[in-house]
Amino acid sequence: MRKQIAAANWKMNLSQQEASDLLTSLLGSLSNINDNQQVIFSVPSIYIPQALGQIQGKANVFIAAQNCHQKANGAFTGEISANMFASAGVKHIVIGHSERREYFGETDALLAEKVNAVLEISSTPIFCCGEPLAIREAGTQNAFVEAQLINALFHLTADQITQVVIAYEPIWAIGTGKTATSAQAQEIHAYIRSVLSSKYGQDIANQISILYGGSVKAANAIELFSQPDVDGGLVGGASLITSEFTAIINALQ
Ligand code: PGA
Repeated sequence: MRKQIAAANWKMNLSQQEASDLLTSLLGSLSNINDNQQVIFSVPSIYIPQALGQIQGKANVFIAAQNCHQKANGAFTGEISANMFASAGVKHIVIGHSERREYFGETDALLAEKVNAVLEISSTPIFCCGEPLAIREAGTQNAFVEAQLINALFHLTADQITQVVIAYEPIWAIGTGKTATSAQAQEIHAYIRSVLSSKYGQDIANQISILYGGSVKAANAIELFSQPDVDGGLVGGASLITSEFTAIINALQ
């Protein structure tokens, strides 16, 4: 059975003290996370060591990085590689968030390299895809997302693709308060799974967790997560508020 996942994306927010206080408060309100579920906190890289210390002993709770460089090491001032994260104890890395694509010019070709770098060291890429508003309005979102998957992921073997978590995040819903309806989310998640199935077979496609992201909050999480192909969420704004993110975790099926 595929994992049901609540992943926080703190982005470039919080001071060190605020990050530590928020994690303490979130962990304090967490009930037991069962083995079919995962809670992941994607924190600013500089807070990773303290966050790892805080989650020690918590089953099925993980710390993630928000990005990595595609190379293992070298003269890339200011960058951090997947190997470095793994050596520091972090084995989940968000790859290809729409903010990385938009503000840092990350292309599917580059993201394919980053995914390889993460898989090479047996870590988990949380691969983001999703369409801008104009594509949704034109009704061509399925083809748009399919191309992102083909270009960044479909060079992987069947074994490798089962290590990937996919996060579908329509750009028009990120940080806007405008959420895809549960029917819209289910429709495209089912489409993503059908695309995975046509390349890798239904068995493999059924093992891959597909998260929804874009203004997930306590008020809509239960309905979104109850859709058969929505396996949890990647959550920005609401993951910075203890009561909100706790309710989102509790909404996991
Ligand atoms: P949001 O962000 O929940 O604030 O819309 C989601 C994301 O960017 O991952």
